[in-house]
Amino acid sequence: MISFLGGTGPQGRGLALRLALAGHTVAIGSRDVAKAEAAVGKLAAKTDQALDVRAATNEEVADQAEVVVVTVPYAAQRATLTPLAAALAGKVVVSCVNAVAFDDAGPHPLPVPDGSAAQEVARLLPGARVVGAFQNVSAPLLLRVADPVAGDVLLVGDDEAARERVAALVADIADLRPVHVGPLRLAGPIEEMTAVLLAVNKRYGAHAGLALTGLDRA
Ligand SMILES: NC(=O)c1ccc[n+]([C@@H]2O[C@H](COP(=O)([O-])OP(=O)(O)OC[C@H]3O[C@@H](n4cnc5c(N)ncnc54)[C@H](OP(=O)(O)O)[C@@H]3O)[C@@H](O)[C@H]2O)c1
Repeated sequence: MISFLGGTGPQGRGLALRLALAGHTVAIGSRDVAKAEAAVGKLAAKTDQALDVRAATNEEVADQAEVVVVTVPYAAQRATLTPLAAALAGKVVVSCVNAVAFDDAGPHPLPVPDGSAAQEVARLLPGARVVGAFQNVSAPLLLRVADPVAGDVLLVGDDEAARERVAALVADIADLRPVHVGPLRLAGPIEEMTAVLLAVNKRYGAHAGLALTGLDRA
């Protein structure tokens, strides 16, 4: 099972939807199980396909899942993860989190003392197998089931097997390509790139993503 902490937001729902459509069992976690149930209902209404999507508290999904995806805002990450450290030790934990803020000049990356939100996840969850992924994939596109989500998902993490596990999940989503970048310490520029994409989106009214050139010839 793949579960989402704070899975009631657009990013958690969008990834849960795409992975459920690919045949995975997924669980939407929330601080409030009624909110998770409402999110599950919204996903079911998006497709005629039978989906295996469950609703639970964040604590329950952390206990039960094999892969746990962090889809809370950066400001909520420490309070959400700290009580779950024991439950998440040894598990694959995927960080989608971007430390991004907005001011009059538009989106901008926030400084993170650990170097990136994903590195902070690794510090908060000793023993977890942390992988950074999906930070640059737009939730509105994930939720638009009629269209494939094209682009590359850059993967960072110090545990190669965990990164491979997440790469396989990425490959299950139509038209997304997993790209192994390397160690978790490279998460910062990937997360910061989201501020660039948000600025582009604002200028062009788009949902831009990332696609690397040249890899098909490697
Ligand atoms: N939206 C996108 O297009 C997108 C794209 C790429 C990456 N991301 C990243 O993915 C993450 C989630 O994005 P999102 O847009 O889905 O976020 P969101 O809607 O703002 O929040 C997601 C969920 O986090 C929980 N949450 C919010 N504030 C909280 C708090 N103070 N304490 C504990 N839980 C809290 C809520 O769940 P409950 O109330 O149900 O507990 C909420 O539904 C972010 O870090 C973002 O940077 C987003």
